Amino acid sequence: MNTINEIIKKLELLPHPEGGYYREYYRSEGTIDQQSLGTPYNGKRNYATSIYFLLTSDTFSAFHRIKQDELWHFYRGAPITIHSISDSGIYDKVTLSMAIENGEYPQYVVKGGHWFAAEVTQPDSYALVGCTVAPGFDFADFELPTQTVLLEKFPQHQAIISRLGLKETCD
Ligand code: GUN
Repeated sequence: MNTINEIIKKLELLPHPEGGYYREYYRSEGTIDQQSLGTPYNGKRNYATSIYFLLTSDTFSAFHRIKQDELWHFYRGAPITIHSISDSGIYDKVTLSMAIENGEYPQYVVKGGHWFAAEVTQPDSYALVGCTVAPGFDFADFELPTQTVLLEKFPQHQAIISRLGLKETCD
């Protein structure tokens, strides 16, 4: 537990709405205008951004999506599993770690527009990763639906969505 708190403190991480902790490390100075980006985007975006992202085993990163490809880099801790569902409903799963001999990978790309969630399955542990996107991240491109919305779209993936989907909030 000390290691997790120390990393959160040293890297100045804050809670992310999808779960886990993050801090933006890099945002390019240059921007791409709306016309060059095309229709999926609404307004200009930086060329690229990157974040530190830390996920612990007592929580998960809930299914969400962004418009651009997201490149994940494994840095430290236990393996982290990313579950993705394409908009046409194809499910995929990959585990990131340094255990290349176990068929795991230090880098992975989540395709833009795919719904994805992440978890650390080893108890009492954490994973520290980096997530880089180009064009740069903007919360305007970020969708974090409740699991009810996703279950209507993908009833065939009920098990994984019920487990790693955003729970309803009762105000
Ligand atoms: N900046 C804030 N949140 C995120 C995120 O989920 N991914 C990336 N790449 N950058 C972010």
